[in-house]
Parts: sequence; C-alpha cells; structure tokens
Amino acid sequence: QEKRRLDYKKPDFTITDIDLTFELDLTATIVTAVSRVKRLTEDRKIPLVLNGDSLKLLDVKLDGAECAFRETENTLELDSVPDEFTLTVKTCINPKDNSELMGLYVSDGKFCTQNEPEGFRRITFFTDHPDVLARYTTHIIAPDGAYPFMLSNGNLIKDEVKDGKRVVTWEDPFPKPSYLFALVAGDFDELHRDFVTCGGRHVDVYLYVDKGQASCGTVAIDSILRAMEWDEKRFGLEYDLNRFNVVAVDFFNAGAMENKSLNIFNSKYVLVDAESATDTDFENVLSVIGHEYFHNWTGDRVTCRDWFQLSLKEGLTVFRDQEFSSDLCCRPIERIKAVNIIKGPQFTEDAGPMAHPIRPDYVMEMNNFYSVTVYDKGAEVIRMIHTILGEELFQKGMKLYFKRHDGCAVTCEDFVSAMEDASGIDLKQFRNWYSQAGTPCVSGSLRYDAEKKQAVYTFNQSTPATPGQSVKQPFVIPLSMALYGSDGRKILLKRNGEPVSEVQILTEEHNVVVFDDVPERPVTALLQNFSAPVKVEYPYAQGELETLLKCADDPVTRYESMQNIINSYIVLNTVNAQRRLPFTHSELVVQSFRYILEESGLDNRFMAYILRIPPVNTLMGLFTAIDLDAIIASRKELVRVLSVELADIWEKLYQKLLAEFRQRLAEGRGYECTEEQIGSRDLIRVALNFHVRGLVLKGEEAKASAIVSGHYRISDNMTDTLIALNAATAHNLESRHEILKDFESRWRDNALVFDNYFRAVASAPYPDTLDNVRKLMEHECFDLTNPNRVRALLGTFSQLNPECFNDISGRGYEFLTEILIKLNGTNPHVAAAIMTPMLNLNRLDIKRKGMITDCFNRIMRIPGLSDSIFEKIDKAFKQ
Ligand code: ARG
Ligand code: ZN
Repeated sequence: QEKRRLDYKKPDFTITDIDLTFELDLTATIVTAVSRVKRLTEDRKIPLVLNGDSLKLLDVKLDGAECAFRETENTLELDSVPDEFTLTVKTCINPKDNSELMGLYVSDGKFCTQNEPEGFRRITFFTDHPDVLARYTTHIIAPDGAYPFMLSNGNLIKDEVKDGKRVVTWEDPFPKPSYLFALVAGDFDELHRDFVTCGGRHVDVYLYVDKGQASCGTVAIDSILRAMEWDEKRFGLEYDLNRFNVVAVDFFNAGAMENKSLNIFNSKYVLVDAESATDTDFENVLSVIGHEYFHNWTGDRVTCRDWFQLSLKEGLTVFRDQEFSSDLCCRPIERIKAVNIIKGPQFTEDAGPMAHPIRPDYVMEMNNFYSVTVYDKGAEVIRMIHTILGEELFQKGMKLYFKRHDGCAVTCEDFVSAMEDASGIDLKQFRNWYSQAGTPCVSGSLRYDAEKKQAVYTFNQSTPATPGQSVKQPFVIPLSMALYGSDGRKILLKRNGEPVSEVQILTEEHNVVVFDDVPERPVTALLQNFSAPVKVEYPYAQGELETLLKCADDPVTRYESMQNIINSYIVLNTVNAQRRLPFTHSELVVQSFRYILEESGLDNRFMAYILRIPPVNTLMGLFTAIDLDAIIASRKELVRVLSVELADIWEKLYQKLLAEFRQRLAEGRGYECTEEQIGSRDLIRVALNFHVRGLVLKGEEAKASAIVSGHYRISDNMTDTLIALNAATAHNLESRHEILKDFESRWRDNALVFDNYFRAVASAPYPDTLDNVRKLMEHECFDLTNPNRVRALLGTFSQLNPECFNDISGRGYEFLTEILIKLNGTNPHVAAAIMTPMLNLNRLDIKRKGMITDCFNRIMRIPGLSDSIFEKIDKAFKQ
C-alpha cells in the first residue's frame, strides 16, 4: 500500500489535450472527457491505465468506437491501444454527497473543486499524476440562470445559451497537471481590479465571495495586486494570462489552492473587515493570497514530477510568501512567527512516528504529507540555500531554474542543481537536508586563548534516529554567528588578519571554528536569525544570555535569548516537579522580564513577542520523554511567579495601554491594521493576561472579572474583543458567561467569526471544558461536515489544550476517538489532521501511552478505515 520515491517510473502514456464537458447537477453531474492520448514507450503491449475513485462509469470510446476495457476498483484499463488516439470517457459523479471535499463538490450550494493531490480521479478516469501535462478546454453546462458564474482555468472562450441551457467554455493555453484543474459554479459577489504588468500585459483580476460579502473582499483583492507587483520587483516574475480569479468557499480542507488562474480559497483566508477580523486574520489573508499567487511560477509553470517532490513547490513558495510578508510588513516579526512553527509543531513532527524528510521516501496517503516538515522546514531549507548563496546568486539560480524547467514537471534535485550551477557553489552534501529526517542538534563550546587572542569553538552535530533512518550523515549547517564584548559591542570577525563572514558553514560531525583578534572572552550569538532549523546546545556562562538579550543587534537572537532563559527554567523545574522537590525560583527570568518591560525601549509588538512563554506543546520538545504533568506544573509556576512578582508593572502597563486605546476612541480614530496598532494590541493582551492572573492568584477574582468585561465592552475591533473573550475563558472568570452570551448573540450568523467562540471555549484549561465542547457540538453553528468548524472546536481541543486533552482520566482521548471514527466515514483527511497530538504517545508516560494505544487499537478495527488514519496509527505502532 505504501509507495516509494525510488519506484518512480516515467509514464507509459501522456495526454496532451483534454476537452472536458460538465453537465452540472447536484447529485448526478455528467462528465465527458475527450483526451488525446499518446504512447511514450516502445513496448506496445503495455496497457493504458487510468486512475479513478468513486466514479460511475457510463461509457468508453476509442477514436469514437466501442472498445474493450477493464474496470477495477481504482482503475480503468485498456489493452493494446494504438500509439495515438482519442479516448472518450463518460462518468457520473455526485458532488453533493462528496463529503471528503476532494474532486468536485458542493460548498453551500456552489460547485467547486479541490484536486491536489489526487482529486481529479474523482472527476473522471485519467492519468492522475503530476508529470502528465495537458492543455485543458472546459465546457460547463447548466440550466440558464442556475449558476450566474461558471468558471474554469484560462481564458473565457464562449458563453452562450441554447435551448434553455447555458454553455460556458474556458481554454487554458498552458499545459498543466490534472491537480491544477479547477471548476466553480454558483452565485457570488464579484470584485474587479485592473493590473498592468511590468511587460504591459493587461490583467483583469476578479475575486468571488458569498453574496453580500463584497465589502469583506477588498483586502484580499488588493493583496493580489500587491503580490503581483512584489513578484515582479523581487523575483522578476510577471503574470502570464489576461485573467486571474480567486474564489472563496466555506467548505475547504486546506487553506487555499493555486489552480492555474483560478485560485480557490478557504473563505477564512479571504473575508476580513475591520469589524469582524483580527489582526492575525488580516495578516493571514496577505500571506495566503501571496502564497497562492506565487505558486503561478513556483508550482504551476514549473511543477512537481511526482508527489514525493512536493517540497519543490511548497518549501519554495512558503519561502517566497515569507519574504513577501517580510518586505511588506515587519521582517523580524515574520521571522519569529516562522521560528515558532519550526520549534513547535515541526520539531514535534520530527520527534514522532510521522517524521519524514522534506522530500519523503515512503508515502501511503499523500494527504498526510502536506506537513509542517514539507512546507515550513522545506522553506527553511530554501532559506539556508539563500543564506549560503546570497540574494544575488539565489536570484541567478531562480532564473536558471525557470530557463531550464519552465513548462516541466521536475524534482527537488533539479532545483538544487540549478542553484548549484548558477552559483558555482557545491551543494552536494547540502542535499542531505532533502533526504534525511529529524532535527539535528548542534552542541558548541568555546575555548578562549587569551595569549593568542583567539576564540576557538568546537561544534558537534548529531541527529537522533527517525523511523526507518537509524544512521544520519552530517548536514551542512550555516551558523550565523556574532561575538560580543563585555561592553555589549560586536567584535569584528577575523581570521588570519582578514575579516570573515558571520555565516560559518559546518559540514562535519566535529567542527572547529577559530576567530582571531578577539580581545576578550566573547559572548556568542550562535544562530542569528535562526539560520538553520536545528537545536543548539551551548553552555552559556552566567550573564551571557542577558548580554545577548540586551545587546544583540539581531532581533531573533534577542528573542531566542529570552526563550533560552525561559527554557532553562522550565527544564529545571520540570525535573524538580518530577522529583517532588520545591520549585526553584528563577531570578533570571523575572529580571529579564523586568528589563524588557522597563528598560529595553523595544517597540510594543516586539516586546509582546519576546515576553511570550512557549506553549506546553513546544516545551515538550525540550524533553525526549515527556512528563506532561511536570511540564504543565512548571509552566504554571513560571506564569504565577511572573504575574505576582511583576504585578505592579503589569497593572501599570495595562492601564497605560488602555488609556491609549481610550484616547484613540475618543479621537475618533478607527481600527487600523498597522504595525503600530497591532503592537499595542499584542502587548495589551500580554499585560491583561498577566495582570488578571495576578489578581486571581491574590483572590481578587471579582476585580479581574470586571476588568475583562470592561475590556470587552470598550472594544471596537475583533482583536480586542477576543483578547477579552479569551481572557475570560482562559482564567475561568465569572464574566465569561455574559461575554460568551453577548458574543453569541452578536456573531451567531457569521460562522467564521463564531469559530472564535469555539476556540475560546475549547482552549480553556478547566475540568468542565470537555463537557462544554460536547455541548457545543449540538450548537446550531457547529457542523461536523465543515472543516473550519471541526478545526475550531475539536482541533483546538486536541491541539491547543494539552492539559484537558491529555487528562489522566483518558476522557480526552476517548472523545477524540469517537470523533475520528465518525469523521473517518465522511472526511478522513480532516480527521487525520486533528489526531496529531495522539502521535506523541511513545514519548508520554506509560499510563497515557496505554490509553492512546487502546484507542488506536479500537480505531484500527473499524471497517473501512481510511489510509489517512491508518498510516498514522500504523507508524505510531511501529515507532
Ligand atoms: N497546494 C495548496 C497550497 O499549499 C495546498 C493543497 C492542500 N492539499 C491537501 N491535500 N492538503 O497552497
Ligand atoms: Zn502551497
């Protein structure tokens, strides 16, 4: 059942052109596919094998005549076909009952598609592999007036009405793999913008949203234009058609999809306005719109040869969208967001049964590999190439990549080769990043030679075994280093009298790095800008992390220094908790917080990020064996200490920011999604939560409750509203009842906004949370068939509430098991995505491991278990 990367075979047949006709009907859509098929092999005995899934076959014709064929469970096979012929296949599909949301389905009365990776075979029998590139012509037929907008890829060729039926024809001049095919039909509000490319091409940009939602689409459509402009400026890449469409739908398994000239989006990443969206929602729209648009070159024009190469387009496109947001918004903040994903979910994936290289070797269900490893670690790998080559050579490599591979389906290897050939830099060993899974650990030490004025660093790298890969070859690790003197000034890096780059490239298991002319024992920043996706171990001497926190010129280093200070405290007290010893007080964390708050002069937004205490899920990554109760206890203790000992500071800070907020309201200045306003809200969230926690701990819960409801009442925007709502549930305040009630009455008609209610309730770390979640499954706004609802309520509970989910009673596991069994029959991909926290079982204590094992055994016995769920449990058992 498992496919292997090395088993890749060139296709025996290709399809050069396909003419598709859809006679739309909610439950019985007739699809006629007329394909021009060409044999690519010498061997004429090889049959044509087409993939199919959940199709009703109506008719097959070869060059217009009856022919022999074989239909199996998942294929349609034809023996001894000519070298070149026209194949006509007629199938019937049921979009309305397509609850898996792969292929053609109905979202809230509108037809739409999701074909990546293997959805097209649920539309018609086809060589559904990304290395078969065809020119598509699409005819959409429906009763006139039924669906005002009928869209597909490419250019609109014809739109006519005949015998009460409307026929719309689209033609896409660019050959593409089937996963990029898209169709949409329904009624929408339409937004339009003109864009003229650098080469003078006139582009009509359209955005389609639910009726009545046009005003929530302006940010998205303007983001498209910003993305088009940025890709021209930074990458020299110009849009290639006269039309670009984006459609927002409510039912969508992922974030969005880059179908050629017809991007389809989860409405969560399109619909925003000042009243209903948070700062994060606004930022996500820009970055996801950018991401999908950038795929036009890195994904559509140059695509993947096979799905093992997914990171070819995803890692690269995430890198591009990160750069887009960094250039347009705030670079250090974007970098810290990316670092948090790597150090949280990605390190967790690397330590678990599903660990895989960014280019996996074995795949059972491809949907399971749209992972933080392929996407986000993939982007880190591209970023390392960028660091090693520099912007100029990197762009030279991109140019060569397009020159060589435009219009082709290629591999990660092709990308690296282009970078190598364009730059003249050898990347042979660098390729280990593509082939090896796991998180490398770099442990460093410093010997300072006062006589020679030399700083001699020793770096050892090692990577723990991952399933199927017990021995690892050394990686190429670019360490961006900086040395600081005791006065906090940066020491110029020199070797043999010459200045050297800050980026040290480690290639061996044991490495020695020497700097000359170092006047004193330096304080070392080891991984500036998080220059490699690795863990670093370094015996910081007393005061060194503080020096970096205060003096480093790289913001990520300052952020990481605080994280290190916090992590040491957590590790120490987790061990204390395990041994039933009293907690050790950490003066260092408190002093560092005090410094940041009172002396650092940092801007609000950066301050809020630096004061972030890593979530329990991320802290688990500090340990091989996870003692969950001890980690939770030590984290709680840290929050307690900071709340109580800095109580005055938190209160004053909250009052100050609140006063500024009131001032803004008094001056009639509305909500704006600017760095400055976002910064105030990010920081007020931190201040409010510590302030409230301090009050609760002092027994002043009524006061805390009143402050939070006050915050809720004065809010003029969704971010502040949710700061209050979440604080009310997170601290279990009395006011949560009235706040939740008010929020419900205001937003029950807006499902995307109401998801915030689900998230607030599901993330509260209290014993009644599971019952509340169960109750909410009966709420009129909840819908087990909508992935956004499932993720908001059930995904939040499993993934963002480790305390309740892993409750030692086992209730959390039992609950999720029930859900997984239900979802297995309707939408297994969404099910598989929310079960991630259970995959930690092998690192958990024996009791929890036993309970999860029991649940897994139960799931494994259900009839018709999907590959998505099976693959994960199977790997968990084998780890
Ligand atoms: N290619 C899409 C994107 O990254 C995501 C497709 C998600 N598909 C999936 N099976 N999870 O923009
Ligand atoms: Zn993508």
